[in-house]
Amino acid sequence: MTDKPPRYASWTAGKLPLPELAEMKRRGDKIVMLTAYDAPSGRLADAAGVDLILVGDSSGMVVHGRESTVPVTLDEILFMTQWVTRGAKRPLVIADMPFGSYETSNEQAVANAIRLVKEGGADAVKLERGGTSVARAHAIVEAGVPVMGHVGLTPQTATVLGGFKAQGRTADRAQQLIQDALELQAAGCFAIVLEAVPAAVARAATRALAVPTIGIGAGGDTDGQVLVWHDMLGYYEGHAPRFVKRYAEIGDAIVDALGRYAEEVRSGAFPEAQHTYAMPEEERAAFEGATDSQRSR
Ligand code: KIV
Repeated sequence: MTDKPPRYASWTAGKLPLPELAEMKRRGDKIVMLTAYDAPSGRLADAAGVDLILVGDSSGMVVHGRESTVPVTLDEILFMTQWVTRGAKRPLVIADMPFGSYETSNEQAVANAIRLVKEGGADAVKLERGGTSVARAHAIVEAGVPVMGHVGLTPQTATVLGGFKAQGRTADRAQQLIQDALELQAAGCFAIVLEAVPAAVARAATRALAVPTIGIGAGGDTDGQVLVWHDMLGYYEGHAPRFVKRYAEIGDAIVDALGRYAEEVRSGAFPEAQHTYAMPEEERAAFEGATDSQRSR
């Protein structure tokens, strides 16, 4: 693996400064965001030149095998954020605030956001929805923690939305979605994720907002894109939404490798001499002599 990440127009050495994201929007440089959940994936995303890493509560589904993101806990996100920040140095690492960690009060939201930054090493946090989340976002920003908003399909409240469905598909719903995004921006959010919304709505939101939009299933006119690690690498067997593009088939490569390993263990082809420790000849002879005399007693 290369230790020289690719350089491009918006490249800066060291941690990507948060204000650079607004500059990237102004220049028209696309922002690249990806989820990651452990130190190796953080390191690989950094090596590939990714700008933003989201320690997403999607981990509940793609890593921990749950049916939804709802049961994910703050401690789970906290641990994964610690792992990711050990691997990723340049990208800004954003910790997702899981369901139940910010809904109750501004105080609860601030306390939990501070834990993610202080104990997890996150650079910023993300929370879902408009409405009451706007006040939470404002309180967290006031406490000194950068916040990313998330509107459109918000998986934590998918039941209320009628399932994992595209959002903002009527004129009224589209206007409400853009209103929510504007309110989150006014609350101080530095960027807004737009998930599963028609391209025309994402385009209008991107024009209306001064802060960058990061799309997932929102077409090509947002200021950046985000995908889930396991979805884009073919490392997840569950249902993949239509907006996922697979850039690799890592799952197939793993099954192939494991199958060859099993075959070689069973046939005795593994391990070979190169995988085995030797000992000095005289020590081996002394050891085998001692073992023989033990056996003949
Ligand atoms: O949890 C997650 O991975 C997310 C992305 C889909 C934006 O929220």
